Amino acid sequence: MQSVLERELVVVTGKGGVGKTTISAAIGLLAAQRGKRVIVVEVGDQTRLPELFGHPPGQAGAESRLQERLSSISIDPDRALLEWLQTLGGRVSGRLLASSGTFQYFAAAAPGAKEMVSMVKIWELTQSRRWQRRAAGYDLVVLDAPATGNALGMLGSPQTFGAIARVGPVAGQAEHVRDLLEAPERTAFVAVAMPTDMAVTEALELQDGLRAKLGRTLDTVIVNGLLPQRFSAAELRLIDRASTDAADGASARNAGSAKSGRGAATARSAIKPTRRDTATDSALRRSAALAAKTVHDRARFQHNQLARLRRRDFAVAGVPFVWGAGMDLPAVERVAEQLGRRL
Ligand SMILES: Nc1ncnc2c1ncn2[C@@H]1O[C@H](COP(=O)(O)OP(=O)(O)OP(=O)(O)O)[C@@H](O)[C@H]1O
Ligand SMILES: [Mg+2]
Repeated sequence: MQSVLERELVVVTGKGGVGKTTISAAIGLLAAQRGKRVIVVEVGDQTRLPELFGHPPGQAGAESRLQERLSSISIDPDRALLEWLQTLGGRVSGRLLASSGTFQYFAAAAPGAKEMVSMVKIWELTQSRRWQRRAAGYDLVVLDAPATGNALGMLGSPQTFGAIARVGPVAGQAEHVRDLLEAPERTAFVAVAMPTDMAVTEALELQDGLRAKLGRTLDTVIVNGLLPQRFSAAELRLIDRASTDAADGASARNAGSAKSGRGAATARSAIKPTRRDTATDSALRRSAALAAKTVHDRARFQHNQLARLRRRDFAVAGVPFVWGAGMDLPAVERVAEQLGRRL
């Protein structure tokens, strides 16, 4: 199967706060490490990428170089509209181009204009011949798209515009964007989901939305923030006992003679209290066992959500929860390394 990194555009979306920006940055990094010239696109006044890579915040609408072969841009629809109109040359008056309210007129005339102009700019970034002749060319554009509903609105905007303007430059441009989005060999759709019931359900709804809007399906769902399943069955039996009455020194001593079987004997020897045991030790042991059990139960629930996705016809890639103070560049590098095994 063609890797998502081999396309012109990768659209990353999913529920709010599930890790779309983190995964977009990691995909960008991974593709750059594999020798591609990449740009990660932020929208909706988001400008997190330059800072994540240790640079000052980028200027809206301008391409910022993050590291070798990797850039980012936060799309400014106003600036993108002016750039686009300039390419139409003589057909648009200089006075119109100079007017700061150009976008407002355009937006008022056509709802969804902001989304359409953003999509046109994204299409432009995929082109080898850029609007500005000296601008860099990219092999891959990674779109850190808005959350599911808004992303579908944005991706469907060329269709809406195509229906309004059937001829002329706007119609032609809308068709170019649609061609890009509808071609599986050119555009990949990636959903990010945390391993929760709601986030997985939203990823499945996105699949339906994509089919209805663009006749496309998701290429990959990335399940982000997975906890590891650390314990063997035997360890779990021990934890189970330690988190209930057997962990308590007194009750373990009393209950000891009543228990039978190999599992119980192992559990008793592993947690057998010594003389020095105090009530505090027992309580601590029980709390630790309970914490281990809770983490295990959560990890098991998460893997059930993963199984829900694996029954579908898209690839599923897991990314572990990265422990630490926050998502910094080393953390994104770890996510990229993990994704590299699957993408
Ligand atoms: N694998 C991970 N392990 C630990 N923390 C993570 C992981 N992925 C993302 N995060 C953290 O989760 C939070 C949300 O991530 P991020 O900003 O990438 O999500 P988002 O989907 O882009 O959010 P929004 O919808 O607000 O744009 C951030 O604090 C990020 O550092
Ligand atoms: Mg984000």
